[in-house]
Amino acid sequence: MNNLILGIETSCDETSASVVTSSGKNIDRVLSNVVYSQIEEHSQYGGVVPEIAARTHLNLIFSTIQKSLQEAGVSLEEISAIAATCGPGLIGGVLVGSVAGKTLSCVMKKPFLAINHLEAHANACRLLSNVDFPYLLLLISGGHCQFLEVYGLSDYKLLGSTIDDSAGEAFDKIARLLGLKPASGASIEKSALTGDAERFSFTVPMKGRSGCDFSFSGLKTAFRILIQKLGTLSEKDVSDISACLQKNITETIIDRAVNAIDMSSDKIKNARNFVLAGGVAANKNIQLEVKKMCEKKGFNLINTPIWLCTDNAAMVAWLGLQYYEKGILSSLDFTPRPRWNLMDLKKDFSL
Ligand code: KG4
Ligand code: ZN
Repeated sequence: MNNLILGIETSCDETSASVVTSSGKNIDRVLSNVVYSQIEEHSQYGGVVPEIAARTHLNLIFSTIQKSLQEAGVSLEEISAIAATCGPGLIGGVLVGSVAGKTLSCVMKKPFLAINHLEAHANACRLLSNVDFPYLLLLISGGHCQFLEVYGLSDYKLLGSTIDDSAGEAFDKIARLLGLKPASGASIEKSALTGDAERFSFTVPMKGRSGCDFSFSGLKTAFRILIQKLGTLSEKDVSDISACLQKNITETIIDRAVNAIDMSSDKIKNARNFVLAGGVAANKNIQLEVKKMCEKKGFNLINTPIWLCTDNAAMVAWLGLQYYEKGILSSLDFTPRPRWNLMDLKKDFSL
């Protein structure tokens, strides 16, 4: 039978709704994916303001859902189940999306699926191509930076994560100090295209250390001091700093990824699949260097398509579809949460 899932994503600064179907293959499965980026609403504050994010989600959520149904050409009656991100994320936004989903589920008498945002990122690559479990995953986003062994739905093993900031946070903070608009990693990537990545050199965080944890706060400080020292920045300074930052973050990712591969289980080593996911995984330079590293280690790199790397509801609906088809549904009293560890999923879903 053809199942249709409505997905809702509101965990940070994207208000998104999507309809995904079980029929067809790859891109045909995505009937709609409406993403409203709140970047304008937050730009004057130099970062995402949780209160503003929550209010903007509230203003936009029902029109976004309506648009996603219209674009998909389906009615709410035809939807099989409703999946909404219930964490981790900014709790105001998570509340808006999850309550919207629960309300529709209650009124329309449709099953509800509580989705973990990180798990949605972790499975996004499987929407457009057949990627078998298990795989080694590097999830790099604005809020997270983790190496995980992925064995199946709800089945994760953490190998390493950041001990302070995420890579996305470092990109965003330095972009802001450089005056880039929007202050994001994507702007750093664009500015880096014309920059000299050799002009400034900084110690690569964690390089040579055992394990596969990350640390980015020292790097943020080093770049902040450099920017302060330079004073008024020329266009060339901005692009050179962008190129150096991107190079430095890429180098730490490669150093950590080699260790993550070496540390991974025999099952992962036999499957030899390395998946990049999350907003920062949209960075072409990172993708390229990770590809070279994977080739050296005999691993196959699977990039999540860029439009599925950054926050979107298609990945939420897609993960919801898989839970729905396994009959794993959530209760309407599922509590939304600002923090939600992937390793807790089995317990949370009583699996
Ligand atoms: O996954 P995501 O959309 O939201 C979270 O779940 O956090 O990731 C957002 C992060 C931001 O820090 C943004 O600057 C970064 O992903 N990002 C990039 C690129 N595109 C988005 N970082 C580097 N290069 C990019 N092209
Ligand atoms: Zn995300």
